[in-house]
Order: sequence, then structure tokens, then C-alpha cells
Amino acid sequence: MTGTNNGAEAGGFTAIVLAAGKGTRMRSDRPKVLHQLAHRSMLGHVLAAVQEAGAARLAVVVEPGRDDVAREIERMAPGASVHPQAERLGTAHAVLAARSALQGGQDVIVAFGDTPLITAETYARLRAPLRAGAAVAVLAFEAADPKGYGRVLTDGGRVLAIREEKDASEDERAVRLSNAGLMALSGAQALGLLERIGNDNANREYYLTDAVALAVADGHTVSVVPVTEEEAQGVNDRVQLSAAEATIQARLRRAAQLGGATLIAPETVFLSVDTVLGRDVIVEPHCIFGPGVVIGDGCTIRAFCHLHDARLMQGADIGPHVRLRGGAVLEAGVHLGNFVEIKNATLHAGAKASHLTYLGDAEVGAGANIGAGTITCNYDGVSKHRTIIGEGAFIGSNAALVAPVSIGAGALVGAGSVITRDVPADALAVARGRQIARDGAAKALRATLKAAKAAREAKRD
Ligand code: UD1
Ligand code: CA
Repeated sequence: MTGTNNGAEAGGFTAIVLAAGKGTRMRSDRPKVLHQLAHRSMLGHVLAAVQEAGAARLAVVVEPGRDDVAREIERMAPGASVHPQAERLGTAHAVLAARSALQGGQDVIVAFGDTPLITAETYARLRAPLRAGAAVAVLAFEAADPKGYGRVLTDGGRVLAIREEKDASEDERAVRLSNAGLMALSGAQALGLLERIGNDNANREYYLTDAVALAVADGHTVSVVPVTEEEAQGVNDRVQLSAAEATIQARLRRAAQLGGATLIAPETVFLSVDTVLGRDVIVEPHCIFGPGVVIGDGCTIRAFCHLHDARLMQGADIGPHVRLRGGAVLEAGVHLGNFVEIKNATLHAGAKASHLTYLGDAEVGAGANIGAGTITCNYDGVSKHRTIIGEGAFIGSNAALVAPVSIGAGALVGAGSVITRDVPADALAVARGRQIARDGAAKALRATLKAAKAAREAKRD
């Protein structure tokens, strides 16, 4: 990148993300911006989107002393600068807390950490008018109910100002064109506008929105960039959090479908931002994909599966009611039937566990068959231990494999066995009470019991 000026290029701009909010209405010990949507924090969604939109520099304004927020920034946007805002004196004051990131004259986009649904494409659209000469661009929508939003005041298509609800006249409150809050400021004007913003308003706050009237007074153009109300939705409480989750889920499902996965009842399938579904994957109703799930081409996920940190390769077929977690790897063609749980285990190609099984801390060889009710006893109350099952082994129903233990390739474990020692390859291991059958003994016992009962009843009468 030497010799180029990112700021002057198509993608390069500085993104300032405001995330110093208290989030009181969440009624939470966790900072608002760390609440999750599709298993990524709201702040993480914003950081991902502005980076995707081409932010060359990223600055995040935070409440001082929030290590958890700082860690999330480091994880989602390494290299972003973090700027504590000691006092919350308004959105313009917050932007100026990141003053050092404003040096250099790059265009600036101000994003809100609690407005997580704005897409990279929208951030790019917000910036576009600056390249056509506008000093400021604001993102706005026609609100069904504009109450609480800053109103975008226009005159014959020209933007004049943004008026906050509390400062608005009766007439201004009737305006439905509402400010989504986010703003783009041209590099040439940003600092000069921000530094002139005062706090002469009902809240005694430094309003970022006042940049609009200042730019207009300077004779600059201010543009309105439209956005849907749904995309502009901020999150202030848990009701809005679930509404935002619904929007994100709808997007993820649609992307999965357009990517070649069949979701039979998409509204019942819950995905994570990082869920990968291959081509010709079929997902039956009521499945949940937690973080870290990758499903290869042609896999079938039957109803009611719950997957978290799991990888399925080509053509695996699981469920209904399968639970995968903690590093489950199913190679090509593995089949898992109902009520099977796999944790930290690899099943090699073509292995099968068709019913009621727990395999934890295990490796199962290719083509092995795990009978109904098989359990790896991987935990002794103190430590976890591994179970190794060789290629083509056959584990009979209701076997308990007490780890650490290994079953050799091609070995056969008798049903109901409790296996505590290694089984060599191709051996037959049976570890259960030996069966005995005494001829006629049941009939004799029944006769004895009936006679005793009759004697007791005769005595009572
Ligand atoms: C803001 C806009 C309003 C718009 C609305 C959309 C201003 C003055 N008003 O109002 O026109 O309709 O968003 O939701 O900008 N923040 C800080 N430090 C501060 C103040 C705010 O970090 O000192 C952060 C908040 O955490 C939040 C964002 O900035 O993420 C917006 O602040 P908030 O107080 O919610 O602004 P609104 O009153 O909603
Ligand atoms: Ca708000």
C-alpha cells in the first residue's frame, strides 16, 4: 500500500463508532453494545460492517474502564483505536473524544454501536454524496411514528437542519422524515464543523446533528440518504433486541437459501453469523446453529438438531434430535440418528450411530457401527479421558466404554458390555453377567407364590 493515500481512494474513510452508552433500559450487568445478535455482539456487527465498507481507520468511543468492551474491539477490529469518553455530553462530544482519529482529513462516518443492522452497503451509500461534493450526509427514513427521533427539516428538497424532539416546535414534530443518527462528514469539513457545535438546547448536550445547520450556513450541501426504518432500528431494551435478532435471522436464512441450502421452514431455523451451509444442504424445521458450525455439501440436518462448534463433511446425515458440540467432526457420509450427542469427537467417513448414544472425547474409525445406547464414560469426576474406536469396529447396544480405552479395528463388543480394558483388533469382547436358564423354575416359583398368597387370605377371612 505504500505511496497510496487510502483516504482519497474509493473505500478509505475513518469510521468512528459511538459505544459509550449506558444502556440503562437493558437492565443488564453487561454493557449494551455487548449484547448479542446471532452470536455476535452488536458492537461486533457494527465493526464488521464498517470494515467491510472499507474503513481505513477505525476509532471506537467507549465508557472508560470497560475492559470487556476493549477486548471485543480487539477481537473484532484489531488495530482500531479506543477512546474513552469520561462524561457523556452528547453525540458530538463523543465524536470529538476520538479527535486524534480525525487528523489527516479523511472522510468520516459516524456509526452507533447500538444500531447494529446497518449493512456495509448502506455505510458505502452514506459516504457516496461526499464524493459528489456534499459536506455532510445523513441517513434518514420516514418513520411510522417519529416520536423520539431527530426530525430532518427540509425546504423544497434541500436539507436545512435536524431538530431533536425536545427542541422541536409543534410543526417540526409533525415531520416524519427521521434521522437514523449515523452521519458522514467530508474530510475537509469534519473537524471544523464538530468544533463549532455548542450545547444550547433542551438537553445541554453537544448534538452531532447540529453539524447539519452549520454546514448549511457555510453554504455547503447536505444530502439525505434513505434507509428503511427496519435497518435503522436502534436497540435500547430487550424487546428491541429480539426485534433486531429477527431481522438478522431473516437475512442469514435468506443468504443461506440463496447460497444453495434448502430450509424447509426457514422461520424455525436459527443461524449464527458464522454458520456455513454448503450446497444442497437440507435443513429440516426447528434446528439451531450456534457459533462455529460448518456444514459441507449435500448434508441433511433433520428436525430438532442443536449444533455448536461442529463440522460436517460431504453427505453427512444427522437427526432428528442430534446434539453436536465442543469440536464435533463428522466426516463424509457419517450417519447419526435420533438422540445422539457428540462432543469433542471425530467420526471418520461412513461411521454410524443410529440411536441414543453419547460419544465424548472420542475418535471413531471409518465405517464403525455404534449400537443403540452406547455411552463413552469419558469423565471420572476429575478428568476427561479418550476413547478410540478402530475402523470397522462394531459396538453392541447399550455398551459402556469406560475411558481411557481403545477398541481395535474390526473388533466386536457384545451388547450390554461394560468395557474397561482395551480390546485388540478383530477380537470379540463380552463383559456382562453370564446368562443362566433353569428349566421349569419360573412355573415352580409362580406356584409357590400363589399358594402363599392363598394361605394369607384364608387366615384373614
Ligand atoms: C440520536 C440523534 C437523533 C436520532 C437518533 C436515532 C443526536 C443528537 N440525535 O439521538 O437525531 O434520531 O439518534 O436513534 O445525535 N453516545 C455516546 N456518548 C454520548 C452520547 C451518545 O457514546 O455522549 C452514543 C450512544 O451510546 C448511542 C449513540 O451515541 O450509541 C446515540 O446516542 P443516543 O443518546 O442514543 O442518541 P438519541 O437521543 O437516540
Ligand atoms: Ca438512541
